[in-house]
Amino acid sequence: MELIEIKNLYKNFRPKAKPVVYSVRNVNLTIRRGEILGLVGESGCGKSTLGKLILKLEQPTKGSLIFDGEDITGCSFNEMRPRRRRMQMVFQGSSQAFNPSYTLRQILREPLDNYYDESDDEKEKLMADMLRKVGLDETYLTRYPHEMSGGQRQRGGIARALILQPEFIVCDEAVSSVDFAVKNKILELLISLKNDFSLTYLFISHDIAAVNRICDRTAVMYLGNIVEILPDINSGALHPYTRALLAATLPVNPRERKDDLVLFREDEDMSIPERGCVFQNRCLYTKPLCQKESPLFEQKTDGHFAACHYCDQK
Ligand SMILES: Nc1ncnc2c1ncn2[C@@H]1O[C@H](COP(=O)(O)OP(=O)(O)OP(=O)(O)O)[C@@H](O)[C@H]1O
Ligand SMILES: [Mg+2]
Repeated sequence: MELIEIKNLYKNFRPKAKPVVYSVRNVNLTIRRGEILGLVGESGCGKSTLGKLILKLEQPTKGSLIFDGEDITGCSFNEMRPRRRRMQMVFQGSSQAFNPSYTLRQILREPLDNYYDESDDEKEKLMADMLRKVGLDETYLTRYPHEMSGGQRQRGGIARALILQPEFIVCDEAVSSVDFAVKNKILELLISLKNDFSLTYLFISHDIAAVNRICDRTAVMYLGNIVEILPDINSGALHPYTRALLAATLPVNPRERKDDLVLFREDEDMSIPERGCVFQNRCLYTKPLCQKESPLFEQKTDGHFAACHYCDQK
C-alpha cells in the first residue's frame, strides 16, 4: 500500500529565470507504508527540496502529491495543519536545525502546544518518555542546543519529529554530522522506532553505507530528476550515474579501492540540458540519441526503474 504518491512534481525557486532552473523536475515516486526509502545524489541535486515538498514546507510549481489516498497538492498552510501532525521532518544540520535560544524543553513543547490539549504535567511526561526512547533523559530538557553534542542534538531532532507520533518522517542527513559509533546507534534507533511506531521514512543521505544498511529501496537523484530506483542497492545499478556514485564510495579493503577510476566526465556547467538525457554532459557513454531524446523512466526488472536509453546494454 502506498502512503505517498508523487506525480510529475516540479519545483522552480526562480520562476522568471531563463533557462528555467528546476530544483525538482518531473519526479514520480511512491513511498510504501512501512518502508524506508533511501534518497541519494550529489549535493544540490534537490534531495532536501523534495523532502520539504512532500511535507508541503515548500509549495510545488507543478505536479501532485497524494498522502494516504488524499490529494494534498492544493492544501493551504491551515489545511495542512491537521495533516502535518502525521508527517514530520528531522532537519539537515543538527546544529542549525534548532532555535539556539530555546532549551530542549521549549523545542519539544512547541509541537505539543500546537496540537495537544493535555495538561502541563502530561506534556512533561510525554517529553520525558520520548527523550528516553531516543536515548536521552529529562535532564536534557533544560539544555540549550550548544550545550549538547552533535549526536545528542541529532537525537533531540528525532525526538521533536516523533513527539506527535507521526506516520511518516523525512530524515534529512540524520547521521551525516556524527562519528561512526554514534551513527550506528542512531541508525539502530531509527530502525527500532520504526518498528515500535509503524513508521515510514524517506531517508536522505550522502552516506551510501548507511543507506545500504537501513533502506528497503533507494532512489537516486541527479539535477532534480530521479534517474533510478533500486530495490536493493547491492543488486547492480543500471544507470551510469548511480554506478559512478556507488563506485565513489570506498570499499573497506584498500586493495579493492580504485583511486584512478574515471567516474564521469568533468563538466563545469551543471545546468539541465535543454534536450535529451539530464546526465548527457557528464556520462561516459553518451550517444547521439541521448542528446536528442529524454529517456523514459521505465521499469527494467521487477521494481527496478531507470531512465537511460542504453542501460540494458552496459
Ligand atoms: N529557498 C531556496 N531558494 C532558492 N534556491 C533554493 C532554495 N532551496 C534550495 N534551492 C536550490 O535548489 C537546489 C537543490 O537544493 P537542495 O537543498 O534540495 O539540495 P540537496 O540535494 O539537499 O543538497 P545537499 O546534499 O547539499 O543538502 C540547489 O541548487 C539550491 O541552491
Ligand atoms: Mg539537503
